[in-house]
Amino acid sequence: MADIETLERDIRAAVTAAGDEASLDEARVAALGKKGSVSELLKSLGAMSPEERKTAGPAINGLRDRVTEAIAERRAVLREAALARRLTEEAVDVTLPVRPAPIATGRLHPVSQVLDEITAICADLGFAIAEGPDIETDTYNFTALNFPVGHPAREMHDTFFLPPRADGERLLLRTHTSPVQIRTMETQKPPIRVVIPGRTYRCDSDQTHTPMFHQLEGLVIDETTHIGHLKWVLEEFCRAFFEVDRVEMRFRPSYFPFTEPSMEVDIRCRRVGNEIRFGEGDDWLEILGCGMVHPNVIRNGGLDPDRYQGFAWGMGIDRIAMLKYGMPDLRAFFDADVRWLNHYGFRPLDLPTLAGGLSS
Ligand code: DAH
Repeated sequence: MADIETLERDIRAAVTAAGDEASLDEARVAALGKKGSVSELLKSLGAMSPEERKTAGPAINGLRDRVTEAIAERRAVLREAALARRLTEEAVDVTLPVRPAPIATGRLHPVSQVLDEITAICADLGFAIAEGPDIETDTYNFTALNFPVGHPAREMHDTFFLPPRADGERLLLRTHTSPVQIRTMETQKPPIRVVIPGRTYRCDSDQTHTPMFHQLEGLVIDETTHIGHLKWVLEEFCRAFFEVDRVEMRFRPSYFPFTEPSMEVDIRCRRVGNEIRFGEGDDWLEILGCGMVHPNVIRNGGLDPDRYQGFAWGMGIDRIAMLKYGMPDLRAFFDADVRWLNHYGFRPLDLPTLAGGLSS
């Protein structure tokens, strides 16, 4: 049985030499596969005499059992080694600091935050939100708002005009949110109570002006609303927005073509260094324009000015954001500088509500 011993030695050598499960499998097939060396030996038993088989049978079967066992042992060793290798390769250093999730590092732009605050306050006061297009017609932006053709107030707005259309109408980037007053009157029946937040555009740039900025327009139209309601709404709004118990407001006569009478509103404040405190002090700060809607504007909106009346106001969202949060330069709002956003931005899940606090 010398060749059985040689064969066993050869097979064991191949099994030991197998460095991974694939080459171990090759060694197994070479020995125990259908045409493997051990299988061939087993087949040869059939052709032997019963005498020969008596000794050859146990020897060959023994060989098969030992080879099978050797392969199984080698397989276990290889598996363990492979597992150990994977564990070191894929090891995670759990002592490394955790990278903060986007929700913890992302910041909401102050304009978005202030818009959310305004929406919460105005919804509480009973206003709905209305919107209109950024690209407007000359008619909606000026004519329907009672700006006479050639009136200097049109020039005051530093308008961005688009090339004239075939029908002669000049399209423009709206210079204020007031055109949405007309669009709202055209599509809603009084009583109307809307606020209109949106982007507005003027060819202007310095520390407190950017070519694109945001306004909030308010419009109330019904049969009985008067200037007392206007003052109450604005006072409530300012108290809630600036989060102070008392605000003192000053209504100064002014001129807008779309309101009569027209007023500008200042609030009393005190400047302490870079900071502004409201409700105290000897300074006044202009924050908005307002008035009773001009009968011509009500008529241009498709309503009867002998039956309906109301008030409107308009203010700069960026400007009141600067005031409330002490941001000195408006141009930085639109520089997309992530360091600025990290400093002045707000946590995205701290939603402003009147009950839970607007800015806390
Ligand atoms: N549209 C004006 C502007 O941009 C602001 C304004 C003033 C709006 C008075 C109004 C208003 O609704 O009544 O300068």
